[in-house]
Amino acid sequence: MSTDAPYSMPAAAVGRNQAFVLGGFLAHHEAVIRYDLSASECQPLSLASLLEAASPEHLALWSAMDLGYAHPQGTLGLRTAIAGRYRTITPTQVLCCAGAQEALTCVAEALLQPTDHAIVVVPIYQPSETAVTSRCAVSGVPLEPDARWRLDVDRIARAIRPNTRLVLINFPNSPTGAGIAPETLADLVALCRKHGLWLINDEVYRAIGSDPDQQQVVDLYERGISIDALSKSFGMPGLRVGWIACRDETVLALAMNAKSGLSSCLARPSEALAQMALRRAPHIIARNRDLARANWSRLLPVLARHGERFEAPAANGGVLAFPRYLGPGRADAFAATLVREAGVLVLPSSLWHSPLAAVAADHIRIGLGTAACAPAIAALDRYLAAA
Ligand SMILES: Cc1ncc(COP(=O)(O)O)c(C=O)c1O
Repeated sequence: MSTDAPYSMPAAAVGRNQAFVLGGFLAHHEAVIRYDLSASECQPLSLASLLEAASPEHLALWSAMDLGYAHPQGTLGLRTAIAGRYRTITPTQVLCCAGAQEALTCVAEALLQPTDHAIVVVPIYQPSETAVTSRCAVSGVPLEPDARWRLDVDRIARAIRPNTRLVLINFPNSPTGAGIAPETLADLVALCRKHGLWLINDEVYRAIGSDPDQQQVVDLYERGISIDALSKSFGMPGLRVGWIACRDETVLALAMNAKSGLSSCLARPSEALAQMALRRAPHIIARNRDLARANWSRLLPVLARHGERFEAPAANGGVLAFPRYLGPGRADAFAATLVREAGVLVLPSSLWHSPLAAVAADHIRIGLGTAACAPAIAALDRYLAAA
């Protein structure tokens, strides 16, 4: 989390558009946070460590770089490195964007007309949901809380209408940490293919998720669109590098058109640093997995010690834990008291409330990706023991 002064929305801006509740919650509590268990990303990489490990070629590019506009699609070197992360696509089938959120917004703009209908699987990151709900009619399909947040593909089938254009999913999922079983993904692809629907997956947690072999939808399906970024699994959200991988170059061109009204192109330093990071992907991901594993092994005994308060989840290998809060009181009241009294920030699942479908409000999301988790989990333990 930034150490800059807390941001709060000026009164005149409140209510002008749909409030981003997660952002509001963070801003509201920022001044009292001492222990952050809310981070959604892996431990941020330092610029120094990236440069130190860069190849001579990348370092030469770095020092010779000018600060002109970058290519609107993303520099070829970066798109080549990104395409190398997929089985089926070429660099021309990649559009670089300023983070996953811009990527998703551009895809929604490229695909959706006001007369269309879309299906969104919830819970999902609120701005992703809004990118779709602000453009057309939407049906929500909830993950199954009592079946480890499994996706029931029949529920998607039942939501399809004659004008349904796309299905938006996010696996591995935030906030639940749930993955998608290969058979479920295959069933979903078959359903989308039968109805000619686009299938968009926000895959920002794939590299660090429970199943590193989870197939990317663009590789599985000709109308699959994979959204990814260096923000979460790589711990580089400040770089603002995300992308769309899509085999249909007309859709990509439309998305690039949408992007021309947003960031236009990436920052050249970000493009260069992203190439350095992607070259070292196995090393960075292994580092992040080790850190997450260590944090899971700190968290689980704490939750087990306070079993009257939490139904502990099984470790899922990723960076998001989503235990059920058993009481006393509600999960959102617990989270507010915890940060106020102990300075420990966790996120209540009510922040993922959706107008599209019910989202269980009795969970808390704990981010296990960062080095700050060790003292934060110890502080949570102390608070629970004393409460
Ligand atoms: C699931 C999910 N997708 C996308 C984003 C946005 O990512 P980016 O910072 O790359 O725009 C977030 C940010 O928290 C997220 O949690």
